[in-house]
Amino acid sequence: MARLGQSWVEQSVWKPDLFKGKVVFVTGGAGTICKVQTEALVLLGADAAIVGRNQEKTDAAAAELAQLRPGARVISCANTDVRKVESIKAAVDKTVAQLGRIDFVIAGAAGNFLSDFNHLSSNAFKSVVDIDLLGSYNTVKACFDQLRKNKGAIIFVSATLHYYGVPFQIHVGAAKAGVDALSQALAVELGPLGIRSNCIAPGGIAETEGLSRLVPDLDAYIARIPLQRLGSTQDIAEATVYLFSDAASYVTGTVQVVDGAAWHMGTSMGNTYPVQIINRNSEPGTKL
Ligand code: COA
Repeated sequence: MARLGQSWVEQSVWKPDLFKGKVVFVTGGAGTICKVQTEALVLLGADAAIVGRNQEKTDAAAAELAQLRPGARVISCANTDVRKVESIKAAVDKTVAQLGRIDFVIAGAAGNFLSDFNHLSSNAFKSVVDIDLLGSYNTVKACFDQLRKNKGAIIFVSATLHYYGVPFQIHVGAAKAGVDALSQALAVELGPLGIRSNCIAPGGIAETEGLSRLVPDLDAYIARIPLQRLGSTQDIAEATVYLFSDAASYVTGTVQVVDGAAWHMGTSMGNTYPVQIINRNSEPGTKL
């Protein structure tokens, strides 16, 4: 079910037709966070392409998003693998053929699982770096002609867990650090073309897989967040609207952290050192 609806538009600070005539291309658009980012943009007038690997999930998300606003055009680019630049290029071509243009890109496709170093194979590390970092690169690469033509804007969905060491997340932290570096370099290199590039770094967001996997004790975790609550997918959507809007026309090369100041408190794993890491890393027979 859609998280946002017309009542959000009526109560929000944004103009209802803010993104009229614009098209957003969203990798991972059927996922928990990126779908709500897209809901906000569609409700505010944008058309959208939902890009994902899973046919059923991607088709269902696109169909649901299309219902949010009369006249909204939302297409599904299912069976797309961001790790293959030709695959993402085919999704871009389909979007331009059916929706006419691409103005905004959300690079949100990501992979994650918890693994201690001892059990994280080289291929497992590569698999997450390929999805998160190479996939983000491929997405911008395939959208570049459209971004250049329309003086577009990019948002990468990053994280905060590489600001310090987070156990069991070596692969993800390394990939997201790369995503931040990619975004900054693109902002500098593509700025003269009128293309903006920013990251959003969500903290612990309620009802996401990531949070349930990473945080064993939710109450202790929330108590250590300065704003004393979990983030919501709506919080990330609001930041997305801002960064794509003209209000942010001079904002590029930044990381917009949306986490209630949680990372300052080092809250990613709650407040206890997970002893199982020591135990699992001590087991003989490292998985290569
Ligand atoms: N712990 C340790 N290693 C793992 C693992 C886990 N939980 N899950 C996968 N791997 C390893 C595999 O064993 C494999 O390594 P190997 O060849 O050395 O055995 C490697 O990662 C690739 O696995 P595979 O399943 O073939 O990768 P994939 O490219 O099809 O999918 C993910 C990768 C990350 C998408 C997949 O692991 C996944 O579905 N994760 C959970 C869902 C998810 O990530 N959602 C997004 C939330 S942000």
